[in-house]
Amino acid sequence: MRAIAVSEYGATPAPMNLPRPEPGPGEILVRMVAAGLNPVDWKIADGMLKDSVDVPFPLILGQDGAGVVDAVGEGVRRLRQGEQVYGAFLDAARGLGSYAEYAIAREDGPVAKMPEGMIYTQAAAVPTASTTALAVVDEAGVDSGQTVLVVGATGGVGQSVVQLASRAGAKVIATARDDMAGTMRRLGADVTVDHSKGDLNQQVLAVHSGGIDAVLDMVSDTTAAEHIAQLLRPGGKYVSTTWAVNPDAMAARELRGINYQGKPSAALLERVSDLIDAGALQVRVEREVPLAEAADALADNRAGGARGKTVLRI
Ligand SMILES: NC(=O)c1ccc[n+]([C@@H]2O[C@H](COP(=O)([O-])OP(=O)(O)OC[C@H]3O[C@@H](n4cnc5c(N)ncnc54)[C@H](OP(=O)(O)O)[C@@H]3O)[C@@H](O)[C@H]2O)c1
Repeated sequence: MRAIAVSEYGATPAPMNLPRPEPGPGEILVRMVAAGLNPVDWKIADGMLKDSVDVPFPLILGQDGAGVVDAVGEGVRRLRQGEQVYGAFLDAARGLGSYAEYAIAREDGPVAKMPEGMIYTQAAAVPTASTTALAVVDEAGVDSGQTVLVVGATGGVGQSVVQLASRAGAKVIATARDDMAGTMRRLGADVTVDHSKGDLNQQVLAVHSGGIDAVLDMVSDTTAAEHIAQLLRPGGKYVSTTWAVNPDAMAARELRGINYQGKPSAALLERVSDLIDAGALQVRVEREVPLAEAADALADNRAGGARGKTVLRI
């Protein structure tokens, strides 16, 4: 089967012809129609898992995807051959990922039936970003009457965070360059601040001086997070997807700092499916490219050129 893989950590992802995997007990084999690109894909290609997983090479890249169940392994009950499914397919310990014509998922893993009426290229954009967003908004306890700041709001995770926080009834301040400000407001942001135009805190204070209840941050490093945390009121929460907060330092300032580590699951994905079905969450695909162009798309994401989701057509 055709796949995009790396022959070693740090190598340029390249098209390869690799054996089609076989589903074992409790597993499904999915003929992939589209794969969704996430920053974690190039981080893994760079070696993010090298101290935690014994990865065989070549390693097929990609976590997210959507396709059709082609075959089921022994004991599979929840999903059937021919069903349209989406989810997270990375099995790094077996060198398998979603940037391939076929991928494997565990039936009890983060895979679910595709939302009604959704096309594959949209569905592939959903799993990691939207389940992360849902979990991050949960962790922050976003509630009606609160004011939240979303840092990295224009990215794959951020666009879902903005919608979910707005839907929870919070006032949402979102980071966005000028050209994305209108999109952010359509997704539910009450006001935008442009992170490319000087100090973020001063810009936030200029539009809202009453203190922030929660910062949901998808980009900052520790130095930037410490600075932005000055906007929080006592008892405020700072949730980072980039592991930028020091919970003890935050506690000393009467704040709660949370480094979110993704735990994609079928239950979270099904909650996302329900929100999409109800029209309460939309996922914007910014860019669609053929699988063969994955290396360029990954390089663009690493360079910061992404403004929402990129999807690979398989
Ligand atoms: N811990 C976990 O479980 C978990 C799960 C999912 C994702 N993540 C991580 O979360 C991060 C975001 O993921 P993603 O998929 O949303 O990435 P993405 O789609 O590549 O988006 C990144 C966004 O950040 C914006 N941005 C860059 N610098 C900024 C700044 N200084 N201030 C405000 N916005 C800025 C970019 O907009 P401009 O180009 O306009 O600047 C871009 O829209 C990644 O590091 C990813 O690995 C972690």
